[in-house]
Amino acid sequence: MTANPLNGPAQDPRLDALLRQLNAAQARNIGFPAAVDIDYRNMAPLLAHLLNNVGDPDADPTHPNHSKDLEREVLAFLAGLFRAPERWWGYITSGGSESNLYALYLARSRYPDGVIYHSTASHYSVPKAAHLLGMTTVLVDTQPNGEIDYDQLARLVRWHRDRPAIVVANIGTTMTEAIDDVGQIRAALDRIGITRRYIHSDAALAGIPLALADDPPGFDFADGADSICVSGHKFLGTPLPCSAVIAPRRHTAHLDQLVAYTGCADGTITGSRNGHAAVMMWSAIRRYGREGLRARTYEGRDLAAYTCRRLEEIGWPSWRNPEAMTVVLRTPPPAVLKRWPLPTSGSWSHVICMPGVSRIQIDQFLNSIANAVLPHNFPNLEGAYRR
Ligand SMILES: Cc1ncc(COP(=O)(O)O)c(C=O)c1O
Repeated sequence: MTANPLNGPAQDPRLDALLRQLNAAQARNIGFPAAVDIDYRNMAPLLAHLLNNVGDPDADPTHPNHSKDLEREVLAFLAGLFRAPERWWGYITSGGSESNLYALYLARSRYPDGVIYHSTASHYSVPKAAHLLGMTTVLVDTQPNGEIDYDQLARLVRWHRDRPAIVVANIGTTMTEAIDDVGQIRAALDRIGITRRYIHSDAALAGIPLALADDPPGFDFADGADSICVSGHKFLGTPLPCSAVIAPRRHTAHLDQLVAYTGCADGTITGSRNGHAAVMMWSAIRRYGREGLRARTYEGRDLAAYTCRRLEEIGWPSWRNPEAMTVVLRTPPPAVLKRWPLPTSGSWSHVICMPGVSRIQIDQFLNSIANAVLPHNFPNLEGAYRR
């Protein structure tokens, strides 16, 4: 029997093979937004137990297998980070898609005849949620950096000014990590005199790093958001996909329905919910705290700035939004992409310097671009870039 790197005997050669495949892929995984610096393996003993945080996090269920006390702490931490009003509510969802669905469900319940405006750079879960909810959507173009075009938003809202406006602000778009400024969205709505409005900040990727950085752009509750979601498997790198969604209590209270069988109100989209994900988010927050998470933010940004500088030296077109961990670059040649899988849209790809991505990995990647394109000019790049 082969040894299992997670200690203990292997259960199945297929699982060993999967683990080997994942370990091997990690060395060249610089394109996808999952932090890899937090080791969650001390959670393994909890896998011996079901953790089902069914329904409302505020009420402990009749069954003992849950982690709702830790879930409540995670939500309180995030509510504080996002400057929520005194009375807020939220829960840990299965991922960003469910969080966006829940947020738009809240918006629809407040404004059943509302029109959803979102940019062409919004995540595909936004139009999907609108479709599931049977809501009208209007697509808004972006500026070249991926940020919503505020003037076009204002023009489109004017056309439908008899209906409430529900705007999704992308707080870190999937391809370029662009930030839609909630202050500018509000100003656009003010110009047209739209008072019946709801703004959802989809901060799946960048919510935590932005909230902890100096001088963040406006995206949180104090800036005018009505709901905010943030993913656990992105910046916190939880090995289980999950997300948190938070909104003022006044938007959520009327949706609660007590279920006698579980002992909890049913205000969540799914009934049974993943209690291990809540423990993992709690563990990351507990271990790092605000200062540790902030340090991780700047590590990612600094590495992204370094990547941009080096790409410029090589002469490979690239750019990055201010403060982003994402570096957008001209799509590398196929031979490079084969070794370094990167998300690609048209002729642009991106690298994301999530916490845990190392300078050595970036140097190796730059080396393969330089070697593929300019083999004679950069014969020994890897050594030159290594610290
Ligand atoms: C900005 C944004 N919103 C929402 C999502 C959806 O998240 P999930 O895949 O967890 O459903 C993503 C995922 O990449 C995202 O980048």
